[in-house]
Amino acid sequence: MDRRQFISHSFATAGSALLAGRGFAAEASVPLEQVPGAVMPAEIGRARFPDGFMWGLATASYQVEGAWNEDGKGESIWDRFSHTVGKIRGGATGDVACDQYHLYPQDIAILKRLHMKSYRFSISWPRIQPAGTGAPNQKGLDHYKRFVDALLEAEIRPFCTLYHWDLPQALEDRGGWPNRDLGGFFADYAGILAKNLGDRITVWAPFNMPWSFTYLGYGVGVFPPGKADYQQFLKAAHTVNLAQGEAFRAIKAASTKATVGSAYGMAPAYPKTDSDADRAAAARYHAMNNVYFLETAMHGRYPKAFVGEIPYEAMGFRPGDDQIMKVPLDWIGFHYYTRRIVSDASDASHPGSDGSFGTEIEDTAGGRDPYTRFRAVMPTEGPLTDGGLEVWPHGIYDLVMQITREYNRPIIEITESGCSYLDAPYEKENGRVPDPRRIEFFREELAELVRAIADGANVGAFHAWSLLDNFEWADGYSQRYGLTYVDFRDQKRTVKDSGLWYGRVAAANRLDV
Ligand code: FCB
Repeated sequence: MDRRQFISHSFATAGSALLAGRGFAAEASVPLEQVPGAVMPAEIGRARFPDGFMWGLATASYQVEGAWNEDGKGESIWDRFSHTVGKIRGGATGDVACDQYHLYPQDIAILKRLHMKSYRFSISWPRIQPAGTGAPNQKGLDHYKRFVDALLEAEIRPFCTLYHWDLPQALEDRGGWPNRDLGGFFADYAGILAKNLGDRITVWAPFNMPWSFTYLGYGVGVFPPGKADYQQFLKAAHTVNLAQGEAFRAIKAASTKATVGSAYGMAPAYPKTDSDADRAAAARYHAMNNVYFLETAMHGRYPKAFVGEIPYEAMGFRPGDDQIMKVPLDWIGFHYYTRRIVSDASDASHPGSDGSFGTEIEDTAGGRDPYTRFRAVMPTEGPLTDGGLEVWPHGIYDLVMQITREYNRPIIEITESGCSYLDAPYEKENGRVPDPRRIEFFREELAELVRAIADGANVGAFHAWSLLDNFEWADGYSQRYGLTYVDFRDQKRTVKDSGLWYGRVAAANRLDV
């Protein structure tokens, strides 16, 4: 792996006065030309995206909608979790969030103003089936019909995620995702959506980041339902794999126009050393964290994420499940935020600093994972965002090329990518929100993406996370990923400089705007 420095590195350390969006000069200690692989301004100048490339923005129901108990909506696990003292930073909840449930015309107007061609949103399952099963709630369906019609009216493609983590609490009370009955319930829900909205929506992703909500919810307990049991994680993940297959079929059966793909979280995994053991560990990371729900769909089998045998029994795997899981996704969608350095942890004499083996979330895992035996860490060679993630633009190139190779040049949609910076409206700039670090983040990343396209990857869309500052899960409102600033006191939206820049990129299909 080449060691790289980025223009943004110097930007991030140069001080914000320099960065107020006026053609600032990088104070790189090393001239850029001498940095191996750095994104050169000329490269950015040359970057051209293909005609018809879908520029988009993304959000998720619980993070933006609010209206948590209106129009017959049932309670979700995130309602329950955020209403529990001590779970969310600042005691925040999604009760109101960005109030998109009521303010969506404003938000769609922003999308249109920024020349967006695609909006990735999610539907709240408990708005459609308040208890997770049975007849649909007409008011919930009507809301999404109006909402999608408004998108279509603005000539924006509705990209629908069926599940972005807000499970009906009633289904959690029946055992949650470790209960394999949820596969069938989810397929019913998917069928209801495709039947009622399939004339308007053609792009469907069953699950957002399935590894995250199963592992963080059932494996280590930092997300709802707050369980910390690796066996429960394995079971939950298996149900989700079955549910994905069943939902695919239900959607296709109800809507001939439907295309079905994914919205997985992925991070390129680089072995810590050149040793065979570290390479194998990086491959296990990729299998567990990136393609655990993709390999099952495309090939009907689990990838080699484990040291030793696949623990079928612990998963609750039954004969014939391979056929249920196997569905040829029409396109592969995944997010990119940051990368991982991975080393082998299969030798019991080398535990992590906290005594743990394996897993990504080492400080919370406490050695619960007996199977994958890798250590994954986020390096800090690149600058960190305000959310603490390392900025590493080149990672998207490696990841896109890896998926392109491994899955025979599929259609790829980048379903999310973004960064949290806390820039706020600035009085001396007439209330504008100068957020140059976010512009730089996207400019460099998109230069890497366009290089992957030139090298043969079939990437059709890019969705920046997020249209709006919003409820950032356990971090509450302490992180701001939006390209639009939201003042949560009065819901005022102000498009940040990065949003205006991104809108120009979308209009021109190039980066030097
Ligand atoms: C992703 C989630 C999304 C948001 C961003 C910052 O992991 O899919 O909901 O929280 O991270």
